[in-house]
Formats: sequence, C-alpha cells, structure tokens
Amino acid sequence: MEWNTRLTELLGVRYPIIQGGLAYLAYADLAAAVSNAGGLGQITAMSLPGPDELREEIRKVRAMTDQPFGVNYAIGQHGRPFEHMLDVAVEENVPVVTMTGGNPAPILERLSGTGIKKLVLVAAVRQAQKAESLGADAVMVVGQEGGGHLGRDDVGTMVLVPRVVDSVTIPVVASGGIGDGRGWMAAMALGAEGIEMGTRFIATKECVHASEIYKDALIAAHETGTAVIKRGLGTPARALSNSWTDKILDIEEQTPTYEALKDYISGEANRRYIHEGDGEAGYGWAGQVAGLIGDVPSVRELIDRMAGEAGAIRSRWCGGAN
Ligand SMILES: Cc1cc2nc3c(=O)[nH]c(=O)nc-3n(C[C@H](O)[C@H](O)[C@H](O)COP(=O)(O)O)c2cc1C
Repeated sequence: MEWNTRLTELLGVRYPIIQGGLAYLAYADLAAAVSNAGGLGQITAMSLPGPDELREEIRKVRAMTDQPFGVNYAIGQHGRPFEHMLDVAVEENVPVVTMTGGNPAPILERLSGTGIKKLVLVAAVRQAQKAESLGADAVMVVGQEGGGHLGRDDVGTMVLVPRVVDSVTIPVVASGGIGDGRGWMAAMALGAEGIEMGTRFIATKECVHASEIYKDALIAAHETGTAVIKRGLGTPARALSNSWTDKILDIEEQTPTYEALKDYISGEANRRYIHEGDGEAGYGWAGQVAGLIGDVPSVRELIDRMAGEAGAIRSRWCGGAN
C-alpha cells in the first residue's frame, strides 16, 4: 500500500512517520533503525557534548543507513548556544533539520538556501503560522497528550491538528498521543500529512540508551500514568508519574520558583532515571500514549505492524479499495 503525501515527497521517505527528537535517547542506533524501516529517524543534537561528537554521530547514522534522516535542535532550553552545533549539520549536509523550543528564525535563516529540509515543532496555531512565514517546509504540531515539553494552552491533538491544517498551507505533521495504526489514520483523517511519535519509539529494541526500567514502566503505565510538571515555570512538560515527579509537584505547589526546583528538574535527574533506571532519584518524559504501549518490538516490527493496522483501516473505510 502506498502512503504518498507531500511529506513523504519532501523527505524522500516511504512512510510519513517521523521519530521525534528524544533528548538523551535519540542517537544513531535509533535514528538509523527508523530510517531503515521507512520512516525518518533523528538524532538529538543538543544531547551531545559538542560539535565533534555531533559530527561523529551524524557519520555513524550515515554508516548505518543510506536513507534520509534528521538532526533535531531543541533550542531555548537553558539558553545554551546552538549555532556551532548547527554549523555541523550544514557542513555535513544532513537531509533534514527539525527545531523546537524557542524562536526558530535564526535556524531557518542559517539553513536557507542550503537545500536542507526545515521542520518546526510547534504547539499552537500562531507558532505554526510564524514558522510558515519564516520559511519552514513543514510544521509538526504537538497536542497536550504528548511526552516532553508541551504548549501552554492545553489543547489536545484532536483539535490542534485540524486548526493548524486550516491555518497554514505547508504540510502538517501530527504529534502527541500517537502509538499505533489507529492513531496514524486518525491523524491523516484530521488533515495531517504525516505523524511524529516520541514515547512509542522509546519502547523499542533499538532505543538502546533507555533503561529497561523506563521501558517496563512505559508498558505498565495506563493513560493516567503521566503528570505535567514545570507548569508554574511556564514550560509545562509531561513525564511518567513516579515518586520524583510527586516531589516536583509538591515543591511547585509550595514554592514554584526555578531555584527551588532546579535540582529536581535538571538534566542529571532526567538521566538518572532514563539511563540508570533510578525512579527514586529522577524522572523520564512520556506521553499519555504510554497507556497504549504493551511491548518492546524492534523499530521495523513496530512500523510494519502500524502499516498493517493502518492499511486494514483504510481498506475498511474504502470498501476494500486501496
Ligand atoms: C523522552 C522525550 C524526550 C524528548 N525530547 C525532545 C527533544 O529533545 N526535541 C524535540 O523536538 N522533542 C522532544 N520530545 C518531544 C517529541 O519529539 C514528540 O513531540 C512527543 O514525544 C510527541 O508525543 P508522544 O510522546 O505522545 O509521541 C521529547 C519527548 C520525549 C517523550
């Protein structure tokens, strides 16, 4: 079954499926596995210590796949400079750059005329319109079900996606709450031309940097098993609920200041859980879609299964015609 959309054409991929940037989890193994399975895999630039390591990781992906892949820039986090990291993507002429978490203008400007495809992850209609006006080739839009950082408006994927589809002319990619062929087809019915998944790709064999405890917790979690933290700081983000996120929410209730929270929400606390599995001393991002995750397949098994599910739905809708 063919899945041609403007997004598959833009990216040169078989399936309109993008693996989201995943801080401290999306390295070459995962990115190459997704690209080899027909989607667009990504490595997360700002999780790497510096330009040399990023260049090495990009070359590692290229050694593992001849398919297109992306490099993700989550900017605005802690005000870390990213320009020297972006130069590496340009010098290595990577096929796709995605960006989120801050003003995309400097990145879009730097990439203009390079031939690198530019996708912006947004969480509101006005951000999508801004990305389009600044020259983005496509927007990804994440609803409040999603894992990791979210918009401040608490709008779910079901409403946000068609709102954005109606507000821009470039292709729209739906993100947040998608984990199987049903979610994929629902997104296409809303007018999206592709999907992005974050949480679902963590529970795969090739997400080798995620601890077994994290993966097991994703399987065990119900749809109610996540919590939004950092709301008081103006940067809401969804994580798996555990004793650490309970502590964070307690502090937010008492003293919602960055000073009071910084040790609890730090990158180190994140890595203690996602890499080492220490649920007493750290946290891991995850979306409500954890409630739909029941196994840890290979990336290829996951994508093939989703294509089968989506194909069956399409046949049902179209009376057997593809
Ligand atoms: C563990 C984790 C880390 C994330 N880190 C990033 C990141 O570094 N850059 C980014 O663009 N998005 C990041 N996201 C957001 C995802 O790319 C994606 O938008 C989100 O996971 C979609 O919702 P879902 O989890 O329901 O699929 C992260 C999400 C998770 C779960």
